[in-house]
Amino acid sequence: MTNDTWTPGAWRGKEARQMPTYPDAAALAAAEAELRRMPPLVFAGEARALTSALSAVAAGRGFLLQGGDCAESFAEFGADKIRDMFRTLLQMNVVLLYAGGVPVVKVGRIAGQFAKPRSADTETRGGVTLPSYRGDSVNGLEFTAEARTPDPQRMVRAYQQSAATLNLLRALSTGGYADLSRVHGWTLDFVANSPLGARYADLAGRIEDALRFVAACGAAGHPALHATTLYTSHEALLLPYEEALTRVDSTTGDWYDTSAHMLWIGARTGQADGAQVTFARGIANPLGLKVSPDTRADDLLRLMDALNPRNTPGRLTLITRMGAGKVEALLPPLLRAVKAEGRAVVWSCDPMHGNTQTSASGYKTRPFDAVMAEVRGFFAAHRAEGTHPGGVHLEMTGDNVTECVGGAEAIADADLGSRYHTHCDPRLNAAQALELAFLIAEELGG
Ligand code: PEP
Ligand code: CO
Repeated sequence: MTNDTWTPGAWRGKEARQMPTYPDAAALAAAEAELRRMPPLVFAGEARALTSALSAVAAGRGFLLQGGDCAESFAEFGADKIRDMFRTLLQMNVVLLYAGGVPVVKVGRIAGQFAKPRSADTETRGGVTLPSYRGDSVNGLEFTAEARTPDPQRMVRAYQQSAATLNLLRALSTGGYADLSRVHGWTLDFVANSPLGARYADLAGRIEDALRFVAACGAAGHPALHATTLYTSHEALLLPYEEALTRVDSTTGDWYDTSAHMLWIGARTGQADGAQVTFARGIANPLGLKVSPDTRADDLLRLMDALNPRNTPGRLTLITRMGAGKVEALLPPLLRAVKAEGRAVVWSCDPMHGNTQTSASGYKTRPFDAVMAEVRGFFAAHRAEGTHPGGVHLEMTGDNVTECVGGAEAIADADLGSRYHTHCDPRLNAAQALELAFLIAEELGG
């Protein structure tokens, strides 16, 4: 990955889509300098461990569970929110492990998922035009000139929030909270009372039986029963932030972006010679690449040449986001082309971004049925082509929000207004996320 000429600033001078224009160059330089002095959030060795775990998935052994907020925010920051996201991921993990029977690689969209691509650079309301909101690491959501002006100090605040978030996630992962003996205790109250609560309680009971058996065998001390690993990820979009946190690993001499374990390239910034791809190709972290309905097989292969020239297994995860009703026609030609070229990749399904619509009441929503249908179509396409359906990429929360219609609780269009909290795209709530995990477990053959 690393070559003699690439530097973290190699993207400068390339076409940089979806990036803010900072009005004050000196303030930007000061924020970048501040970030360059900050400690890394993750270590290179952890990123390598993730590449290794993903290489097993690429070889058909295991499943990638990647999920979290569409956008983290400064206002919605708090310990309860982080813990509830974490426990929802833990619950999905045991469903996939127990019912699906596969090892699960867990990656959060968390501790750095702040910057957002937007369809328009500006937004007009009542004759006033301002820059679009681009995520809390760039500007504020409020529709005022002051809030919407990109402020580089927001990157520093995003770093600090990411550090605090990651600190709690690491404590929850290894400090006892993730111990499998607590499998019942992860259930959130509002999920316990939902149809999914009973289904999960039944599975948790069976896991407890299995743990008693393991203990009787004298194997209760295995570390995997008492702690877990949650990796972090976000979109590599806001390059001044990513560049400032990119450091040389003293062990290997390679460059790593220490802002997260895994970075992905969004659907709007996947130009082979664009700034984001130029940046990502030089870092040794595992990478994701969003693949949209208009991606042609030859363009995809060219991008793969750029991002993974040595065809390293685990280096590249292709995250397809086609939309329900399209996935079964559009995915197979890509699966065939990549297989024919002998490329090692993890295929992951993002059933969120191809299924966004505006509801009759005016909310941006995603029908849970469409999310489920895309996941089913993804599995069907892989079955037909003899490739491995390697993972899912979800926008979800541990909160009891009403943002996606449908699911076992049958959230209706009229309910959307009651708890619609997202700063950006509609997320699955904890019960919907769990329901989806059961569906995936069935598809995995459990
Ligand atoms: C996202 O994952 O939040 C996103 C913007 O997705 P995409 O780039 O696939 O549209
Ligand atoms: Co989104």
